[in-house]
Amino acid sequence: MSAPNKSYDPVEVEALKPEEIERLRDEALAAFAAAGDLDALQEAKVAHTGGTSPLALANREIGALPPHAKAAAGKLVGQARGAVNKALAGRQAELEAERDARVLVEEAVDVTLPYDLVPPGARHPLTTMMERVADVFVSMGYEIAEGPEVEAEWFNFDALNFTPDHPARQMQDTFFVQGPEGTTGDESGVVLRTHTSPVQARALLDREPPVYVVCPGRVYRTDELDATHTPVFHQIELLAVDEGLTMADLKGTLDHMVRSLFGADMKTRLRPNYFPFTEPSAEMDMLCYVCKGESVGNPDRPCRTCSSEGWIELGGCGMVNPRVLTACGVDPEKYSGFAFGFGIERMLMFRHNVEDMRDMVEGDVRFTRPFGMEI
Ligand code: PHE
Repeated sequence: MSAPNKSYDPVEVEALKPEEIERLRDEALAAFAAAGDLDALQEAKVAHTGGTSPLALANREIGALPPHAKAAAGKLVGQARGAVNKALAGRQAELEAERDARVLVEEAVDVTLPYDLVPPGARHPLTTMMERVADVFVSMGYEIAEGPEVEAEWFNFDALNFTPDHPARQMQDTFFVQGPEGTTGDESGVVLRTHTSPVQARALLDREPPVYVVCPGRVYRTDELDATHTPVFHQIELLAVDEGLTMADLKGTLDHMVRSLFGADMKTRLRPNYFPFTEPSAEMDMLCYVCKGESVGNPDRPCRTCSSEGWIELGGCGMVNPRVLTACGVDPEKYSGFAFGFGIERMLMFRHNVEDMRDMVEGDVRFTRPFGMEI
């Protein structure tokens, strides 16, 4: 007969001895207390509360105990784990508070420090003005055409019916890059274009009629920079060549333009003038968009914009001279055309009460910024 089984004492299970549980608990508490930052605490947490931590393993042993021993062992391990979790949560809160306090100091922004003011720029009002005018014509089906600013004298003058002795060719008006007496021996020099009209000739040579083009661009004349002149300025040119175009089409187009830009009740008037490349030619005025002509003869209501004249001079226009059509290979018996051109700086001056042209060329953002991103 075999000897009776030795009675089973749960306390004898190594992992569940109270001293052992207490030791595991104290070890965990010590590890948490020693963790100096949240990363270290995370490591200690895995080691002391994770699925393979000694206390978790001890907990698993309880299941193997006889029923009468389970309650006591469960209480022992449960209390130890409770204490460990509480200590963990406490230390976690402490370390998070420390981190938050540190971050607040380290990442603090001193909003009272002076800063470098880099003001945002804006597109130049000359650019937006040119685009605004060009858009009126693009919406009517016109095409934008461009030409070079350094231009053959032939395009700038000869093709446009300027005679060789025309005063505009003289040195005091035109910047010559290479004089007509230059090394090439032929009679055409190279100039900085004095107007956008040479693009008319280029557009006609490039295309078969009908031609409808609008040409915005920079032009040059030998003027001193002062309040009302600048040697570099901008023009916008319009050219239409088709069968049966008349002065009435020109007038209607001008009226449409000023209505689009200045309001539905605007109109234009034409005064006879002379340009070599148009015949007949006219100076075009638009009704003053501020006083609508009411300041004329009315000293009680003076108008600064038109100097109480009722009209504002805009630019030149006319029917394309048949000589220009011929020079550009277009049959004047079949086609006719109209053209006009005007300065953007002048339009910007009266439209926005800019009193000094130098403001437009000096590049000071305090001038451009108020125009913002107006398109
Ligand atoms: N090119 C002319 C100027 O600069 C303006 C103009 C353009 C006149 C087209 C008639 C036709 O003054």
